[in-house]
Amino acid sequence: MTIKAFVFDAYGTLYDVQSVAQVTEEEFPGHGELITQVWRLKQLEYTWLRSLMNSYRSFWEITEESLKYTLNSIGLHSDADTRKRIMEKYLHLEPHADCISALDTLRGVPLAILSNGNQEILDALVRNTGLGDKLNAVISIDKAQVFKPHAAAYELVEQTMNLKPEDIMFVSSNAFDACAAKNFGFQVAWIERVTPEALAVEIEAAETAGPSTMFKLLRMQMETFGLEPDHRLKSLNDLARLVR
Ligand code: LAC
Repeated sequence: MTIKAFVFDAYGTLYDVQSVAQVTEEEFPGHGELITQVWRLKQLEYTWLRSLMNSYRSFWEITEESLKYTLNSIGLHSDADTRKRIMEKYLHLEPHADCISALDTLRGVPLAILSNGNQEILDALVRNTGLGDKLNAVISIDKAQVFKPHAAAYELVEQTMNLKPEDIMFVSSNAFDACAAKNFGFQVAWIERVTPEALAVEIEAAETAGPSTMFKLLRMQMETFGLEPDHRLKSLNDLARLVR
C-alpha cells in the first residue's frame, strides 16, 4: 500500500511525556516519579471522561485539572505558581531520542501531527523544540471538540490534508491511539517503546511494581481489542524502511 503522508501522535510518540519528571521532582522532592505517572494516567482518563460526558475542555485545562487531582490525591499542598511552573514543561517537553532523526530521514513525504493538544500549546511546543520546519501540518483535535479515540478527531486528518485514511500511515506509541486509528481506517505503525520481554525483566527485578512499571503495564502494551497495527516498530527510525 502506498503511503502519501505520515501523521504522528505527539505526546508519548514524538515527545517524551516522562520528561516532566525533572520539574515534578524539583517542585516536590521525593514525589516526582509518583506525580509524573499518576498525572499522565489521569490526564488521559480525563480526556476520555470529558468526551463521554460531552463536556469538552481544552487539553491545557485537562492537564491542569489532572495535575490538581494528582497533587491533592497524594496529599501535597500546591499553590497556583508551583502548578504553573510544572505545567510550563508541557510547552518544552523533550523530543524522544529518535524523533528528530526520523523526521529528517522522512523529509520529502508530507509529515503532520494529530494530537489531543489544543492548537496553542501544540504550536508552542513545536516552536520551542525546533520541529516547526520539519512538519507540514500540526492538527489539533480542538477543532472537533472531542478527544481521540473518537472518530471525529481522526476525521480532521482528511479534512486538513485532503488525503484518504488508507493513504496515511498513522504513527503512535499510545496503544489505544494505534488501535483506534486502525479501527478508523488508517494504516498504522505502533511504536513499541517497551517490549513485554523488557517489562517482564523489570517486574522480576523489582520487589513490588512501582509507578513507572504500572504506567508501562497500563499504557505501553498493546490493547486486546483484536485491532492489530500494520507495523510494530521499536523506534521511529524504523519508519524509513516503510517508504523505501
Ligand atoms: C496525543 C496524546 C494521545 O498527543 O498523547 O494526542
